[in-house]
Amino acid sequence: PIPLFTTVASFREWRAAARRADKSVGFVPTMGALHDGHMSLVRRSLAENDLTVLSIFVNPAQFAPHEDLATYPRTLPRDLEILAAQAVAVDSTTRGASAVFLPSVQEMYPSGIAQDPRLQRGTFVEVAGYGAQMEGRSRPTFFRGVATVVTKLFNAIEPTNAYFGQKDIQQCLVLKRLCADLLLAHPDPAHLHIVPTARDPADGLALSSRNAYLSPPARKLAPALYRALQAAADAWAAGEDKAACVRRAEDVVAASAPASNADSPDTHMRLDYIEFNDADSLEPLDGACCIARAASTPVVLSGALWIGTTRLIDNIVLGDL
Ligand code: PAJ
Repeated sequence: PIPLFTTVASFREWRAAARRADKSVGFVPTMGALHDGHMSLVRRSLAENDLTVLSIFVNPAQFAPHEDLATYPRTLPRDLEILAAQAVAVDSTTRGASAVFLPSVQEMYPSGIAQDPRLQRGTFVEVAGYGAQMEGRSRPTFFRGVATVVTKLFNAIEPTNAYFGQKDIQQCLVLKRLCADLLLAHPDPAHLHIVPTARDPADGLALSSRNAYLSPPARKLAPALYRALQAAADAWAAGEDKAACVRRAEDVVAASAPASNADSPDTHMRLDYIEFNDADSLEPLDGACCIARAASTPVVLSGALWIGTTRLIDNIVLGDL
């Protein structure tokens, strides 16, 4: 079985032994409920590192009080089976995950996590300018929670390489900034890798732990988000302006909505946003969008869609990251 570590101190002994043996360590942070999107990150890490560590920690600091912390899917025994079954052929051997880090909330937040934010004490990490747009507009404290927990995880694991999914593109870009701004060496910003989004091969839906919330009829509607983004991307490639591209996306969602919306709250669809942002600064594109297109700076086209009480996100990068 893969060794499990629940404390930073015990993990550090394992990490010190890996360092003495001069082994590279790849790291895949997760909140569990593993699916093939997570496993695509694990496979990259297995292929590129001597050892691979996965963490499973449902981070309270990145959930707002009204969000789904209590109901977030927790499937630890199954996660460990999936992980144990994953192997990648490297040279003439096969490589599997080397360790799982499974800390408690107390271990990760020695100063505690307060229900009421006004009573919170202790240290938090904020990446200014990157957390208020896109996902941050609907989830204003989300990236502070992510940046804080990932800083702690990097300090505990000290990875050579770390792997994140393009599915959460803003998270990737916030964390790259964090590594650069805090002069982190474990990992350095160049060793934070962005892995392409894994999708359902049949309909393109981005794999996500939250897809488990969708009822069968809601699941059928969910690919509308990716199709909407593709329609906006096509319009963009055809030279249409930003507003026209957003309208294309809205049209796709409207056309996929079931006729009797009002009768069925779990299939009610509402686009939260479709945004175009510069991939480096995350600044929203406005009048300058034509300049960005001419200069072929990469642009993030992202969106969020509510289906009933489930909120799905997805994105397409226009140009090369
Ligand atoms: P979680 O949602 O569990 O995702 C863990 C990692 O898997 C993230 O880097 C995410 O982008 C990646 N991932 C999820 N779905 C994917 C898909 N369809 N294709 C490729 N990668 C995918 O993201 C988090 O956890 C947390 O915010 C965390 C970074 C662990 C901090 O708490």
